[in-house]
This record gives sequence, structure tokens and C-alpha cells, in this order.
Amino acid sequence: MGTYRIAVLAGDGIGPEVTKEALKVLLAVEKGVPDLQLHFEEYRDGAHCYLETGSDLPSETLEACKQADAILFGAAGLPDVRFPDGTELMPQLTLRFVLDLYAGVRPIKRYRGVPAVLAGSPLIDYVIVRENTEGLYASRGGGVQLGRELAVDNMIITRKGTERVVRWAFELARKRNGASGDRERRVHCVDKANVLKSMAFFRRIFDQVASEFPEIGTGHAYVDAMSLFLVQKPERFDVLVMENMFGDILSDLAAGTIGGLGLAPSADVGDEYGLFQASHGSAPDIAGKGIANPVAQILSAAMMLDWIGDRRSDLDAKKAAVTIEKGVDRVLMDPQYHTADMGGKAFTEKVGDAVANEVSRLLKP
Ligand code: NAI
Ligand code: MG
Repeated sequence: MGTYRIAVLAGDGIGPEVTKEALKVLLAVEKGVPDLQLHFEEYRDGAHCYLETGSDLPSETLEACKQADAILFGAAGLPDVRFPDGTELMPQLTLRFVLDLYAGVRPIKRYRGVPAVLAGSPLIDYVIVRENTEGLYASRGGGVQLGRELAVDNMIITRKGTERVVRWAFELARKRNGASGDRERRVHCVDKANVLKSMAFFRRIFDQVASEFPEIGTGHAYVDAMSLFLVQKPERFDVLVMENMFGDILSDLAAGTIGGLGLAPSADVGDEYGLFQASHGSAPDIAGKGIANPVAQILSAAMMLDWIGDRRSDLDAKKAAVTIEKGVDRVLMDPQYHTADMGGKAFTEKVGDAVANEVSRLLKP
């Protein structure tokens, strides 16, 4: 019997709206898999929490994240709520650094029922692995500002930080079935090694780690070229690994090619902890209307179960993850369950209900 404690940080804007639907689906899957037990505990974080308590990530919340088996994170932050230095509060970034969640995992997959965005309707199924704890964002909260005239942020690339995330990417490629176009397993290094020393260093370390995985192919691309390739020939890619900010930017672009942020899940994982959240933010422009697409958050919950399953060698959790993904795939086949971002009219709740029902049906003995 696998019993797991899940810390739930719903956050701001549409965070609580999509998290509610993910929890609904998790409860349905828990019911259908008798040997899986999930205990949910909700904690506060984000912009509202900051306005009320002075902290966007209270120590009670952080402690709970450390005690839990996994963290389900909604979305945090609102554009108008800022720290005195003008930056936005981002508890998710803080958690990445504090819990050492060094691999930002963003599967980019187009589901059958989702209207094609790219001409030719290519098969899209690859994973962006974003280094999450260093790179340009390591300067967050640091950097240098000289009076009113100059500001500098530094790109930090370490050998250890690069080795572990690249290794993570290769191990992921080992578990996958290769690129959707030719079924070849390969990892691409995405960098800017032609311009920056730090990026040439990243690439050298990538090549060293790659030699430990002779059965997996490799490729290199500059980040600007890669933003072209992800639009022109996405079926060529399997796993891509890159520096923090490049991963942030490319994963939003990639999400655009599969139907938008509402369909793009993510995981932030390290050797000890795992946090699971949709790739999108709090979407204040649509918050409170009940129209947010909950699919990204539901798929993130599936990634959570898959990660738990791998860590605990729990086949029930793995099965639960696969079932949720299958449920999403089937529900998306029917346009009556497409939300506004997909050109449909469905409300958030209707999509969550449909996936939960489909999951229950799939798990019926
Ligand atoms: P955003 O991802 O919240 O929204 C970008 C656009 O995508 C908006 O037009 C939004 O309506 C749409 N969108 C996003 N998720 C959607 C969904 N599930 N269904 C339908 N449409 C969806 O990014 P934005 O506007 O740059 O940031 C808003 C706030 O969220 C900011 O305060 C930002 O700091 C925060 N943020 C938080 C993140 C997190 O918690 N991990 C990540 C990114 C931003
Ligand atoms: Mg981002």
C-alpha cells in the first residue's frame, strides 16, 4: 500500500481554480486504485499571502513542503504585487533553489484532439529539461545595481550543476521511446556556445556526460536556431537540455506549438524533492471567470504520480499516472470539453469533471 502526503500550494489567480480540478482527478484515481492513498494538506503562498502576512512563502509552508512526499503547486504571483526592489515575488523560484529542484521538466506533447497549431500537423512529443537552480536566474535577488545608471546580472554555470541536469536528461531519454519523427533516442544540448564562455563550458560538460550514454544520440543547437527548429521540425526532437533562462523562454514557445500554456505541464525535481505545476502563471486576465484550462495542472498531477512511482518503485502510482494521461487524451478528443484558449466554450469545472469521470471509467474492474 502506497500512502503519500501531498502539500498543496494553490496560490493566486487561476492557481486555485485549476488545482481544484487536479485534486478532483487525483481523488478519482485514488478511488479506482485501491492500493494508492493520497493525503492532501493545503498551505498558503503567493501574492495574497504576501499582502496578508508579509511573506510569499511562510516558514510553515516551506516546512510542510519538506515534510511532504510531493508538492502540488498552482500558480503564484500577481503583476501588481511586488517586492520593494520592483521584482515580483516568485515562491516557485525560491522553492527551486531552497529544495534544490535542479531539473525543470517540461513535456511538450500534442494530444490528438487538440487543433493543430503548426502547418502540416506534425507529431509533437519531446521534453525540455531546463536547468533550474543556476544559469542567468542564479542572479535573482543578487546582481549589481550601481546607482541609477547601471545594472548587471551574471550567468552562473557550474560543473556540478551542469553534470547533474545533463545526466538527468540522458536518463530520461533512456526511459522514453525516442523522437516522434524517427523513434531515435537523442538529447540535444541547447546553448549559445558561439558567443558566451559560460555556454561553451556548458556544452563541453554536456559532451563529457554524453559519452557515458553511448546508446543515446546527441545533437547541439544554438538557442536562437532551436526556436526556429521547434516550429519547423518539432518531430525531430526527443529530449532537450539547457540553461535556466533559455529553458524558461523556449518552453513557453514550445507550449505555443501544442495549443498553449493551458496544455503544458511541468515538474521541478531534484534528488530529494519534487514540485509539480502547470507551466503557466496565475493568468489574472481570466482569473475568477471559471474559464481557465485545467489540463496542464491535471497533467502535472499525473507527472507527480509518475515521479512518486519511480522513487518508491510503486507500480500503482505509475499506473495512476498513465490512467490520468489517457483520460485527458480521451476527453480532449471531444471539442465540447475544449476551453476558450483552445477555441471552445467549456468551463474549467466541466473539463475537470470529464477527466475525473473518464479516469473512473478506465479504472473500473
Ligand atoms: P500567465 O501564464 O499567467 O498567462 C499568460 C497568458 O496565457 C494569459 O493570456 C493567460 O490568460 C493565458 N493562460 C495561462 N494559463 C492559462 C490556462 N490554464 N488556461 C487558459 N489560458 C491560460 O503569464 P503572465 O501573464 O506573464 O503572468 C501572470 C502572473 O503569473 C505574473 O504575476 C507572473 O509572475 C505569474 N507567474 C507565475 C508562475 C508560476 O507560478 N509558476 C509562472 C509564470 C508567471
Ligand atoms: Mg516561464
